[in-house]
Amino acid sequence: MEAVTPLIEGGIFAYLNYLVPAKRKEILEILVNGLKRMEYRGYDSAGVGFEGTNTKNGSHELKTIKQKGKVARLEEEIAQTTDLDFEKEFDTHIGIAHTRWATHGEPSPTNSHPQRSDPSNEFLVCHNGIITNYKDLKSFLITKGMVFESETDTEVIVKLVKHISDKHKDSAISFRELVELTVQQLEGAFSLVFMSSKFPGECVSTRRGSPLVIGVKSKAKLSTDHIPILYSKDHRGLMNPALHHTDSTTEFHPIGNKEVEYFFASDASAIIEHTNQVIFLEDDDVAAVQNGCLTIHRIKRTLDESATREVTTIKMEIQQIMKGSYSSFMQKEIFEQPESVVNTMRGRVNFETNQVVLGGIKDFMTEIRRCRRLLFIACGTSFHSAVATRQLMEELTELPVMVELASDFLDRQTPVFRDDVCFFISQSGETADTLMALRYCKQRGALIVGITNTVGSSICRESHCGVHINAGPEIGVASTKAYTSQFISLVMFALVMCEDRISMQDRRTEIIQGLKNLPSQIKAVLETDEHVNTLARELYQQKSLLVMGRGYNYATCLEGALKIKELTYMHSEGILAGELKHGPLALVDKAMPVMMVVTRDKVYPKCMNALQQVKARHGRPVLLCTKGDTETQKYAYNYVEVPQTVDCLQGVLTVIPMQLLSFHIAVLRGYDVDCPRNLAKSVTVE
Ligand code: F6R
Repeated sequence: MEAVTPLIEGGIFAYLNYLVPAKRKEILEILVNGLKRMEYRGYDSAGVGFEGTNTKNGSHELKTIKQKGKVARLEEEIAQTTDLDFEKEFDTHIGIAHTRWATHGEPSPTNSHPQRSDPSNEFLVCHNGIITNYKDLKSFLITKGMVFESETDTEVIVKLVKHISDKHKDSAISFRELVELTVQQLEGAFSLVFMSSKFPGECVSTRRGSPLVIGVKSKAKLSTDHIPILYSKDHRGLMNPALHHTDSTTEFHPIGNKEVEYFFASDASAIIEHTNQVIFLEDDDVAAVQNGCLTIHRIKRTLDESATREVTTIKMEIQQIMKGSYSSFMQKEIFEQPESVVNTMRGRVNFETNQVVLGGIKDFMTEIRRCRRLLFIACGTSFHSAVATRQLMEELTELPVMVELASDFLDRQTPVFRDDVCFFISQSGETADTLMALRYCKQRGALIVGITNTVGSSICRESHCGVHINAGPEIGVASTKAYTSQFISLVMFALVMCEDRISMQDRRTEIIQGLKNLPSQIKAVLETDEHVNTLARELYQQKSLLVMGRGYNYATCLEGALKIKELTYMHSEGILAGELKHGPLALVDKAMPVMMVVTRDKVYPKCMNALQQVKARHGRPVLLCTKGDTETQKYAYNYVEVPQTVDCLQGVLTVIPMQLLSFHIAVLRGYDVDCPRNLAKSVTVE
């Protein structure tokens, strides 16, 4: 599988002032503002950690304030804290802050960051990303007497630092070395900032697969625009023989005086108002500030890596940084799909052993396998993800499968029984119709499974068990990456259902290997963007667009048409090609724009038949077809190619050109892509 790039979600911010006096009030303001700058990244709780003094014995200690909800709530909580001297001035101080997007444990003050090593807050950490081996580490630390208080994966990190620190209590081990020893035990993706009451005024940060940038502000000119990398011993105490730099004398200071401020953040948007001098850390860099000096260490050296980190002067607007090189969040989210699908499968699909484990429903699988019927209930795009996977679900579970729009399901007062298993699919986890359908089914004794992207949402809380799709926050109102992640979550569920069926092993293996290739294939589809933009230029003044297909691609037609409607305000219809003769064919003539999804699978001959019918009415079909299928392309007015994958996964690839097309048409029409008119991200009313 490809390297994991975590998505934009939550954020880290830390501020260290060295010999630059600042009042606690000012420090907290800087921390909170840093979090505000990263609010766009999506989060559901926030917290700060800062230095203080124990009122009883006068010793140095760390304090935290954490709150569920928006940064504004954290700000209120800080303002209401009565036992803090906000006017107290610190010559040197470190404070760390965080916005959390829940992945392990629902949003709550205890699950928010900073996470602490122990009740005395000896070490604090803020973390972005996911630690995949946290269960093993947690079991180990429990045997060492550590008591866990949160449900987060992050807590193992800070408890591990404490454990290692206790083990080395008689040696003069530095804060940085402690962190280096700790991160060598971690698997997964992370960016981290640490502070400790044992090391006042010091900060250590590191990253692996999750971004971290350090801003440097100093009145004096910086002594260098390249920071040399220093190399540390590995956990066995060995220096890598390939290393050149082993001495620690080449430390980095600003010239002239030592007054300096450092800002650590998940992205530069939180730093730019303070300084435009930044250093982007790379994976496995460990950056430490001690006595005002910043050093960057590495444990491993890889061939051809740079021996320095550049101090970059950034000249970007904050808004620009937040969206990166993209013009809208929707565009960004479309392009995040190679990573978001990896995150959906991460820690769940083992491509070597062909095993799939869904931790959130594992304990309920016996009950689920015994059920009489599977019901999938959702609205809009989430409903389409159930349509997309219905055929596979029927094939692999051999159970009756119902796919329902939540509003209609409720209108019909559909009969539901105790031995039904009902799935509620919702990106937000708050959609009113879906939530009411959930309660309706729960009252009737069915087992409730939530498939959501929002931990701690109402649907999450009210389900008996569930699957978090891990797509990362979706900010654009039109759902894109959540759809492909819902799709894959449902495929994973179907794979779990048939894991013991000998007769299905070949099919399972084929699908799992197909999943493995999806991220790179999605990248290939995204490369059609420019071509899709050309198509958009041809189509954007049209009034209508029909999208036709059948079989596994029918859901792409429904979802593609929904994207066109909501973003471009054009009329669009997703049409099952098998229904053409029963009415929709009357719409087709040479003026009616038609898109047809025709990929090489079992229903290909039938799709070709539909294509002939459209051609016979002088239709000019634009095809979404299999890469290199010149035979089919002959019939096309124009076409977009997608790589071939396993039939049941093809819809993940065919939907992407439709997302791109609706995006480009909306841009050409001058509409707000992230907030289409009349729509809201979370539909909490009926
Ligand atoms: C369309 C879209 C909506 C949602 C629907 C359900 O792009 O986003 O159709 O899919 O409102 O929302 P969730 O998934 O939050 O329940």
